[in-house]
Amino acid sequence: MSVNVFGFMRYSVFLIALLSGGVSAVAPPVTEGGTKGIKKDLEAPEFVAEMKAKVFSKEEISVANGEHRFNQTCVYCHGHQGSGGKAKMLQGREFDADYLFKTITKGKKRGSLVMPPWKRTFTPEERWELVTYILSLSEEKKKQ
Ligand code: HEC
Repeated sequence: MSVNVFGFMRYSVFLIALLSGGVSAVAPPVTEGGTKGIKKDLEAPEFVAEMKAKVFSKEEISVANGEHRFNQTCVYCHGHQGSGGKAKMLQGREFDADYLFKTITKGKKRGSLVMPPWKRTFTPEERWELVTYILSLSEEKKKQ
């Protein structure tokens, strides 16, 4: 009997909390402040702009890092030094840095050819390094 009363009391406390909106009012901020919030921060415009500035300020190192990563991950579709293959050549073309970053982040599709998004594979800093490398490919072509 006493167990039943206790059980009922717990139930009604829960019900009151639910009805007063206590549960739903508390829950959302907790999830938003969790891992989701941290992930979002990495993609926040301020953070991305900061990374871009940092990566471009040490451009020579960034290009080298980008080249290394390109040869590991992108060369299979885009060819040696972006000379093309399964996907378009990236060499000797005029690109906007922000367009490159966005495309690498989100991926791209042309007909049945699909480039996956690289957002989860590379940090913003690593993606900007890839951008500096691809930009360096267009400059090399111009110099020749
Ligand atoms: C599975 C094959 C594949 C891989 C791997 C790949 N891409 Fe792509 N990429 C594509 C396809 C397909 C497109 C869209 C069509 C096209 O441009 O040929 C594309 C488009 C692009 C574009 C836009 C080109 C344009 O003309 O607008 C950039 C920049 C790019 N890729 C960079 C990269 C980088 C950097 C990597 C490595 C992190 C990479 N890609 C890896 C297949 C790939």
